[in-house]
Amino acid sequence: MKVFSQKMQISAKVDELKAKQLTVGLVPTMGALHQGHMALVRKALNENDKVVVSIFVNPTQFDNKDDLIKYPRTLDNDVELLKTVSKNDILVYAPTVEDIYKGNTVSQKFDFDGLEFEMEGKFRNGHFDGVGTIVKRFFEIVKPHRAYFGEKDFQQLAIIKKLVKKHNIPVKVIGCPIHRETSGLAMSSRNTRLKPEYKKAAPFIYKTLTTAKEKFGTKSANKVSEWVEKEFAKHDLLKLEYFIIADTKTLKPVIRKSNKKTYRAFIAAYADDIRLIDNIALN
Ligand code: PAJ
Repeated sequence: MKVFSQKMQISAKVDELKAKQLTVGLVPTMGALHQGHMALVRKALNENDKVVVSIFVNPTQFDNKDDLIKYPRTLDNDVELLKTVSKNDILVYAPTVEDIYKGNTVSQKFDFDGLEFEMEGKFRNGHFDGVGTIVKRFFEIVKPHRAYFGEKDFQQLAIIKKLVKKHNIPVKVIGCPIHRETSGLAMSSRNTRLKPEYKKAAPFIYKTLTTAKEKFGTKSANKVSEWVEKEFAKHDLLKLEYFIIADTKTLKPVIRKSNKKTYRAFIAAYADDIRLIDNIALN
């Protein structure tokens, strides 16, 4: 499996594939690949002739330097895992920070029509400018026909759809369902850093989301939020950062329920110093 480390090379390779009328899918990742990523890769392989998997721990989307330093980097294992799904149809693009940013690790500033100010945007300063910068750059370098993103990062998926629309980027953005451990814990590269007692505690997040979903059938969003906050306050190991029930389109918190709209519940919580996020569709 060829690992490309320079944008000129991967661009040239994709041009060559497209000249042969082959379709190209892109799966952007930060590596430490797990089955959640692999579900995206499998879907991309089903829907395209060739799939570019980018592996790049993007410095501009980390507001917490410690998180950036500790983010797992496991390129050799990632390549081995990718080989298990396809030996011939995956191209890995693993650039250096220099190749992407040329010594200037500064984000472009974006206007995502307010999506960037909700939830993660409130708690992770500059995060979505960093994500927008890198994903736009990957779209320009790879020029894929389709690109795949997980609902695990639902706000990110919404923002990428907005990015593509506002900047007229010719790519189809495809969302993929959340992949979970059997415990219900949403798979995440950060899970490998959880100490055993926190790993055991973390499925509480999804359990709370599923109960919140049931409660939302008969109760107001406020009442459900109060219940969730109380449940977390009783928990010894997990610290809630936010619980929000939001309109799926605007990502703004729901004030009064309408049966014409769809909603999702979102949680961010700390397990020790590791920040975990999850969400669930409510209707
Ligand atoms: P990363 O966290 O590595 O995730 C890469 C892609 O995999 C994202 O689209 C994410 O939503 C998806 N993903 C992660 N865990 C998942 C799970 N359990 N189920 C389904 N999909 C899952 O998200 C990023 O990297 C970065 O922000 C990136 C888009 C690559 C830009 O740097």
